[in-house]
Amino acid sequence: MFNDIQNVIEAKIRSCCAAEGIPLAPLKWTAIPYSGEWGISTSFFQTAADEARAGRAGKPVPARAQELAEQVRGQMGSVEGVSRVDAVKGYLNVYFETSDYARRVVDSVLASRADFGRGAARGERVMVEYAQPNTHHSFHIGHYRNTILGEALARLTEFAGFETIRASYPGDLGLGVITVMWAYDRFYKGQEPAGVHERGQWLLKIYVEATARLEKKENETSEETALREQYEAERREMYRKYDAGDPYVRELWRVTREWSLEELREILRMLDVKIDVWFFESEVDGPSKAIVEELIAKGIADDERPQGGAVIVKIDEKLGLKKEKYRTNVILRSDGTTLYLTKDIALAKVKFEQYHVDRSIYVVDVRQSLHLQQAFAILRLWGFPQAEKCYHLGYGFVSLPEGAMSARRGRVTLFKDVADEAVRRVLAVESEKAPEMSDAERRQVAEQVGLGALAYSMLSVDNNKDIVFDMDAALSFDGRTGPYIQNAHVRANSILKKAQAMGYEARATGRAFDYELTKHEIELIEQISKFPAAVEQAANEYRPLVMAAYAYDLANAFHSFYHAAPVLQVEEAGVRESRLQLVAASKQVIANALRLLDIQAPEVM
Ligand code: ARG
Repeated sequence: MFNDIQNVIEAKIRSCCAAEGIPLAPLKWTAIPYSGEWGISTSFFQTAADEARAGRAGKPVPARAQELAEQVRGQMGSVEGVSRVDAVKGYLNVYFETSDYARRVVDSVLASRADFGRGAARGERVMVEYAQPNTHHSFHIGHYRNTILGEALARLTEFAGFETIRASYPGDLGLGVITVMWAYDRFYKGQEPAGVHERGQWLLKIYVEATARLEKKENETSEETALREQYEAERREMYRKYDAGDPYVRELWRVTREWSLEELREILRMLDVKIDVWFFESEVDGPSKAIVEELIAKGIADDERPQGGAVIVKIDEKLGLKKEKYRTNVILRSDGTTLYLTKDIALAKVKFEQYHVDRSIYVVDVRQSLHLQQAFAILRLWGFPQAEKCYHLGYGFVSLPEGAMSARRGRVTLFKDVADEAVRRVLAVESEKAPEMSDAERRQVAEQVGLGALAYSMLSVDNNKDIVFDMDAALSFDGRTGPYIQNAHVRANSILKKAQAMGYEARATGRAFDYELTKHEIELIEQISKFPAAVEQAANEYRPLVMAAYAYDLANAFHSFYHAAPVLQVEEAGVRESRLQLVAASKQVIANALRLLDIQAPEVM
């Protein structure tokens, strides 16, 4: 983790090779796991292999690599913080002085605090699109998984050094939307429940009811058939009026859509999600018609309208693929209407050209994978270099074990119901465990823990896998859960609070760690030192799961340390102070990791 020592050593290797006229291949460094000492390692196999290829080899590659390692080692001299350097089987192993390394790890956390682990600016702009449910519905648990995944990813890319734009793209058009508007207007006109969530959920209820009304039943009486057909005709008429820009229908659309968006904004506020750019399907529809002409002109799309057909893109053929992969797709129907795909291509163009996005990430249901791959393929045909850096972060279905929740509406599990239930359960436990807390504080902590449990239960599972959400497991203080990690933060905090109350002076940095470190301290220091690499890996691979797993490992190391190593009871002031600093550093890194997962780090719980 310490590039300064690595850089000094690397410079020495370079000058040593330069002096001998040896062309040095780029060096790769890996950390040596602790075995009495920490260290880093690199090898000379690549350099030796390059020499062999250039016909300059006097010996087999492994022997030459070892010779080079020994040569470099011989000329290394002493380096501050390094205890010894070994040349073994072609590798150069550089070992650190243990106490010095421990001090550096802890000090660098305490010097950078909330910035510990932050990557240098990459000069690249990432757009993460997520939190984009369709309007005229309520926010369900699947939308929640989407939102928390997207937010964690955005926090990770931002912290890793990418300039990050958070975007949303709700679908606010189409038959589902019209169905809700029709049913509202027909059966509920003038009504409007009070409360943001109630209104959002009410639209869903209207939708479920309308769908039942429009559904053909078995053994329908002729009256029922007539009524159903009449409803169908009314809905069609409303669609037509919407398309024609009828002022009454447009106003109805605007008002009902706003109800959904208000609920969405309220939930995003709860989740501490701040979207930078809002795109709407209704706003992309117009521009998407214009790109159809452009794609025809460029020879990417084929216009079959003269033969009574549609405008299509034969993706596989244009890409020269022999096997079926992306298939042929319609981008403009014969009646002149666009499709979901057309809009996505138009939207991508806006992202590239108006927002100058280098990497474009889509957090979208795995079931839309083919659709997005088709869109990316058309963008490639169109010649956008960013098409190679479009990425679909798919996610699986979320369900609840049958009967676990009472408040079920339609077939949908609403996020708000699950969140309320989680907070309620935490509150019930806390009222027993911490009667001294004020009501307001208890409420706040219960929200932090309840929502943290939900977030972690989503983020700690591979995004492609389905989740059967188990509330009891998610809220448990043991195992791979949010509360388990939060509790490590709370324990660290309480040690530091007590130390303060006991009057122990806590020096900002600079404790020596010059005593025999226990295995729990070593494990904890090692975990802390891995944080920057975990940030980088999670961001580079677009995998919040990497950070979720790391946070657990770190919390686990802290809990073990907490049980095994006394801090405040230690007699030797030097050891006590070092451990207090280790606790402070742990608390900071746990908080940093939780923040990247969009989970709060409570001080008490
Ligand atoms: N609103 C869509 C849905 O709920 C998701 C949008 C996905 N993003 C996209 N660019 N297609 O299914």
